[in-house]
Amino acid sequence: MTQRVLVTGHLGYLGTVMVPILQAAGHQVSGLDVGYFDDCVLGPRPADPAGVTVDLRDVGPEHLRDIDAVIHLAALSNDPLGALVPEVTHDINHHASVRLARAAKEAGVKTFLYASTCSVYGAAGDGLVDEDAPLHPLTPYAVSKVRVEDDLTAMADTDFSPVFLRNATAFGFSPRLRADIVLNNLVGSAVLTGVVRVLSDGTPWRPLVHARDIAAAFARCLEMPSSAISCRAFNIGSEANNVTVAEIAQYAARAVPGSEVLITGETGADPRSYRVDFGRARTELGFEAAVSVAEGAVELSSAYQQYGLSAADFDAKFTRLARLAHLRDTGGLDEELRRVPVSPASRADA
Ligand SMILES: NC(=O)c1ccc[n+]([C@@H]2O[C@H](COP(=O)([O-])OP(=O)(O)OC[C@H]3O[C@@H](n4cnc5c(N)ncnc54)[C@H](O)[C@@H]3O)[C@@H](O)[C@H]2O)c1
Repeated sequence: MTQRVLVTGHLGYLGTVMVPILQAAGHQVSGLDVGYFDDCVLGPRPADPAGVTVDLRDVGPEHLRDIDAVIHLAALSNDPLGALVPEVTHDINHHASVRLARAAKEAGVKTFLYASTCSVYGAAGDGLVDEDAPLHPLTPYAVSKVRVEDDLTAMADTDFSPVFLRNATAFGFSPRLRADIVLNNLVGSAVLTGVVRVLSDGTPWRPLVHARDIAAAFARCLEMPSSAISCRAFNIGSEANNVTVAEIAQYAARAVPGSEVLITGETGADPRSYRVDFGRARTELGFEAAVSVAEGAVELSSAYQQYGLSAADFDAKFTRLARLAHLRDTGGLDEELRRVPVSPASRADA
């Protein structure tokens, strides 16, 4: 059934891949994003849906009118970003997400699909963790995701169904590329330098999932009856893509002929290590992630070469932390990462 879907963060890495998949499934999609990475595009510029440029911290029910379902992706999206500005991370990722959910509920939105993360499991050792495992979030980013899950659960009722998709770490090409997620990063290192450089000791487990598979999981949830998914958490990924960082490096090197792996170990052991069980999404949603890490590595390698990726862009434009720091240092964002309006005088000077 066609739904009117609002995607927050539609101008980010996952949103840019997800929107056309939702549109192809027949949904009417609109977006809401502050646009931190709007211009960070590799290759042809994507056809974005109609959207509003709004900071999540300023959202009200007026932004949620005539919407059936919200897919909430907008966030400061990784651990280093969270550590840079922990208070702002909590403001955006936690408080503003709850504000958005309240506004959505008030405006009569029925379904609220939240992009959570498998990093809520933190240090989980070698056993497989499922959705009922204890949560050990190790970073402000992961803590913010757990708090949103808790607060949204408390808001659920027969008319408002929050659902928590705990995504594995994404990989794969998106026109709004992210260079700071592990496979995308290591393939870039191989293409640009001929060396897949791993700074940790390579032993931590990481569950991976292709960006298109994440989009397919959200699309699947839109088809489910709310009674089957309300307040449920679903790990999104596949056991076949539970891999160690050293294995990911091997996949990256194999996708770029002539490149080699170098494990320096200079940052020592990484406590964030977890292997994830994806059985619940398989049995309850009928969802199966399809794209392997090897396929993703080849796709990235060809896109990087086809679109002439440069080392400068890889490190600055496509690295979320560097991009936000640049916007802040050049006056485009203030200390709280709010957009600074361009004054007519400074526009005339430019
Ligand atoms: N990419 C992954 O590996 C991964 C894994 C698990 C979960 N997730 C979650 O999926 C979501 C999307 O991730 P992504 O990789 O596309 O991240 P991204 O950084 O590429 O995109 C996030 C988007 O949110 C927007 N945004 C950030 N703060 C905002 C604010 N205050 N107001 C309005 N918009 C704001 C940004 O402008 C950006 O377009 C995030 O919630 C992330 O935590 C991502």
